[in-house]
Order: sequence, then C-alpha cells, then structure tokens
Amino acid sequence: MSEKVKIGLLGCGTVGSGLVKILANHPLVEITKIAVRNEQRAQEIATNLAIEQSLFTWDINDVINDPEISIVVEVMGGVEQTKQHLLDAIAAGKDIVTANKDLLALEGSELFAAANKAGRRIMYEAAVAGGIPIISTLEQSLAANKIICLQGILNGTTNYILDLMKKEGKAFDEVLKAAQDLGFAEADPTNDIDGHDAAYKVAILASIISGKQVDVNQIYREGITKISKVDINSAHKRGYEIKLLGMIFNDEDEIDARVHPVFVPQDNPLASVAMENNAILVKADAADTLTLIGKGAGSLPTASSVAGDVLMLARGNSIAPVTSESFAKIKAMDEVENSFYIRISMHDKLGVLRDLGEAMLKHKANVKFIDQYDVHGSEAHADFLIDPIKEKELKAIIKDIEAMDSIKAVESVIRVL
Ligand SMILES: NC(=O)c1ccc[n+]([C@@H]2O[C@H](COP(=O)([O-])OP(=O)(O)OC[C@H]3O[C@@H](n4cnc5c(N)ncnc54)[C@H](OP(=O)(O)O)[C@@H]3O)[C@@H](O)[C@H]2O)c1
Repeated sequence: MSEKVKIGLLGCGTVGSGLVKILANHPLVEITKIAVRNEQRAQEIATNLAIEQSLFTWDINDVINDPEISIVVEVMGGVEQTKQHLLDAIAAGKDIVTANKDLLALEGSELFAAANKAGRRIMYEAAVAGGIPIISTLEQSLAANKIICLQGILNGTTNYILDLMKKEGKAFDEVLKAAQDLGFAEADPTNDIDGHDAAYKVAILASIISGKQVDVNQIYREGITKISKVDINSAHKRGYEIKLLGMIFNDEDEIDARVHPVFVPQDNPLASVAMENNAILVKADAADTLTLIGKGAGSLPTASSVAGDVLMLARGNSIAPVTSESFAKIKAMDEVENSFYIRISMHDKLGVLRDLGEAMLKHKANVKFIDQYDVHGSEAHADFLIDPIKEKELKAIIKDIEAMDSIKAVESVIRVL
C-alpha cells in the first residue's frame, strides 16, 4: 500500500479534536504532528483523545517546517499571527485547510495570492456554516450556474436566541444569558449578536459568487439586540418568523450583500430552521432553488467539512480559488429596496392615522395594512408593513414619523423578505 499523506494540525480544540477522531486510522491520510500552546495542554489533549503524546509540539514551526507534512490544517483561530504562520506554511510548500472565517474574510486576498503564486491550495469548507457543504456546492456542483441570490442563516447563536425567544416568550437578554450558560453563546457575544460573524461568512460567499475580492468592511450588518418579544409575536401572527439572514443578490455589475434581521414568510424553508442550526437557500439560473440545512458548528460537523477538504487535497483534487484581484462593487445600502415592518407607539388621539397616511403618501410608500392595538389610556400601539422602497426613502419616512406630535416613538423597523 502506498504511504499515507501526512497532515499537521495547528490547534486542537473543538474542531481539531473532532478531526483527530474522524481521521483516526484513515487509510489515506495520517495526522503526524499537532501544535498546541504548551506541554500541559498537550498532555491533557493526548489523554482526552487517547493518542500518543509524542504527536504534539508547542512550536508551530515544527509543523510548518516538517518536510514530511504536505497539508497543514489550521484550526486554532486568530488573524494576524495566524496569517503569518499560514504564509510561512505556503512558502514551505504546504497546502492549507482552514476553518477560520475571520482570517479569510479579513486577510483572504493576501493568503490566496501567496498560495496561487506558490502553486499551493487553500481549502475552507468549514469556514462557512460548519458542517454544511456550501463552498463545494457553489464552487463545484453549481459551477455552471449564475447564482442569482443566496439567503442564509449563517450564525447558530443568533438563530438559537431568536428561536427560544419565540418558543418560550422570553426577552432577548434572558435568552442570551441562558445561551451563554449552555455554551451556545460566548462570554463576549458581540461578534454573533451584532452580525459580524455572519458578515464574515457573507463576504466569503459573495467573493465566490462574484468571482472577485470582497471588502468585508463594506458589508452592511445589523444584529438582533433590538428584536423584542413584541416583534417576534407580531411577525408570527402575520405569517412570518424573524431570522438573522446573510443575503447576497448578484446583480450584473454590483453585489447587494448584507446581514440583518428579516421577517421571513412561514412557507419559506428558512423560517422553520430551529435552534442553533444553519441553513442556506440558493437560487441559481439553471439549477433553480435549493436549500441546505444542517449543523453550522460543533466538533464533529465542523471537522467533517475540514476532513472533506483534507481528503480532497490528499486525492489530488481541489477547488480553484478566486483569482481576480479586482474588488466587487458592493451596492450602497441607501439604494437597496426592501419591504418594511414598522412598529410605533403613539398618543391615542384623533388624526394620528391620517398623519401617518400623509407621510406615506409624501414618500410614495404603499402601506399593506395598519393594525392598531394595545390601547391603554392615552397611549396606543400600531404596526404596519410597507411595500418595497429604497432604504433612503425609508429613513426619510421614519424621520417624518418621529417628528409628528402624535407619535411617541418608532419602536421597531425590520425588513421583510
Ligand atoms: N467550533 C466550531 O464549531 C467552529 C465552527 C466553524 C468554524 N470554526 C473555526 O475553527 C477554528 C477553531 O475553532 P475551535 O472552536 O476549535 O476553537 P478552540 O476550541 O478554541 O480551539 C483552538 C485550539 O487552538 C489552540 N491555539 C490557539 N492559539 C494557539 C497558538 N498560538 N499556538 C498553539 N495553539 C493555539 C488552542 O489552545 P488552548 O486550548 O490552549 O487555548 C485550542 O486548542 C476557529 O477559527 C473557528 O472560528 C469553529
């Protein structure tokens, strides 16, 4: 039998441990070195995984410079230092597999340029939606299609929080705390709840879809911290569920790419994606519509994608990365058109609805319905949906509504799919 392809690991935490388990005794590949922080960590991990402690090193260069290793798997996270380690590994002739979306979204262009120049390959299936094979679907299976649009639940933590808010009728803070206690949300949840993590993934996907580099800083992002129980109930009552979506619409000369909460119609497959699951709906010109649903994180699901990349490389296959050096033009958010859900609190007096109607007329916005409820003494609430208008028009409408004497506050504005 021919010799196994030798693999080196940088990091051995949640994903790395999963990979060790999946590739144990594999006939084609063999993990021969694992870099961790120090000797003590090596001992702990070796005991937990029941593997030889001699596999471990606490010097990353031992992996990068090992002439027998042909594939370096980066599962340690981090951006600046990690980039340098991977550039060193590429210079040392290694192919790379990484699960690191932050690194790819922020520094991918430099890494891919270095890999192309050196004739090496970088694979990153696990960087977007963990165990869901979305990168290979776009790059291989749908390679002959033009992708018209992609909409995805790309962050498990926020989906878990929104799902529990709906099912248990609890407030955002309460559910976030429970998610942190259960390990579904990090101690500092900013990256997830403010939409940054999903924006990194959108940048990676938009780059594949457009065939160009994408500047992640241009991706509009809005998180879920302002979503209230009232919004979730209102959405549900009207036939929608609220989801944090990453969305990419592929126009001819620009890309509309963004992350924000959305009212998703209940008959859309994304509406019923529960708990910490991820899901991606793709519309392609030939294949039409397909939806992938699965685990967006977790040890074995994520390691499954990493292992798939490792085996692709070991068999001599790989996916051609984006080679264009030009940047995709990202559509300005002000020019994007959406339908909107608006919820207001107002003084319960004559003429409020007429004033609202006039504001809509002024901006040529078509109101689908208006629902007044919860009238307590002199205060009332109302919510309504308006047909698609440009974001800049919406801002002008909100400004006019806020200036009305009869309006107490615009409580919520959420886009509708
Ligand atoms: N977890 C998931 O479900 C998931 C899903 C998709 C993508 N990813 C991505 O996969 C990567 C790894 O995630 P993870 O969840 O496996 O993280 P993790 O559990 O924190 O594991 C990271 C491992 O790397 C080690 N490490 C960090 N910096 C190091 C350094 N400078 N030198 C040596 N070892 C170092 C850590 O050591 P210590 O334990 O000593 O700190 C730890 O063993 C990240 O880029 C993450 O974004 C993760």
